[in-house]
Amino acid sequence: MKKLIGLKKTRSAVFISGTGSNLKNLIKFSNKKNFPISIELIISNKKKANGLKYSNEYKIKKKIINFKNHKSAETKILKILLKKKINFICLAGFMKILSKNFIKNFRGKIINIHPSLLPKYKGLNTHARVIKNKENFSGCTVHFVTSKLDAGKIIMQEKVKITSKDSAFSLKRKILKKEHKIYPAAIRKILN
Ligand code: GRF
Repeated sequence: MKKLIGLKKTRSAVFISGTGSNLKNLIKFSNKKNFPISIELIISNKKKANGLKYSNEYKIKKKIINFKNHKSAETKILKILLKKKINFICLAGFMKILSKNFIKNFRGKIINIHPSLLPKYKGLNTHARVIKNKENFSGCTVHFVTSKLDAGKIIMQEKVKITSKDSAFSLKRKILKKEHKIYPAAIRKILN
């Protein structure tokens, strides 16, 4: 493994729409000396996203981008990313699908975390669907982003066992814990 000491961290942005627990976790990791990214920017499409509070807490710049017009929102974001010399993007609960045109600017440099064992259960309401189907296992996946929903190459996955006592809520909690483990691990895997 390459040593990071003396090497520059990859300047990164995290895109969110909601709670931001993955964002917070990634910020904590990025503050470690030997973690390969620094988080320079938080982008949210929702001005009320709870995760935006980590901008103040950790002194990281934030931008709120209105996606009413998707194309111009992406153009705005690209400009900001260029200006801030961002080379890597982590999507963490970001509820918009980025276009081919946007992604081609960051080929192999945009990753996402999804709360299921992809390719199973793409899309929304994952946990409720998993419980309804009486699955024995679920989990989470970190993958490269393409313009197709939750479909890019898988970087890392972790499984969790579902018990008869689990609800969509308890499963969400269990899986989030694993998410906080594999998201940083996947970043290390591809950038170290
Ligand atoms: C996570 O379950 C993630 O897998 C999914 O959206 C949720 C975001 O949670 N893409 P948080 O905002 O990071 O707490």
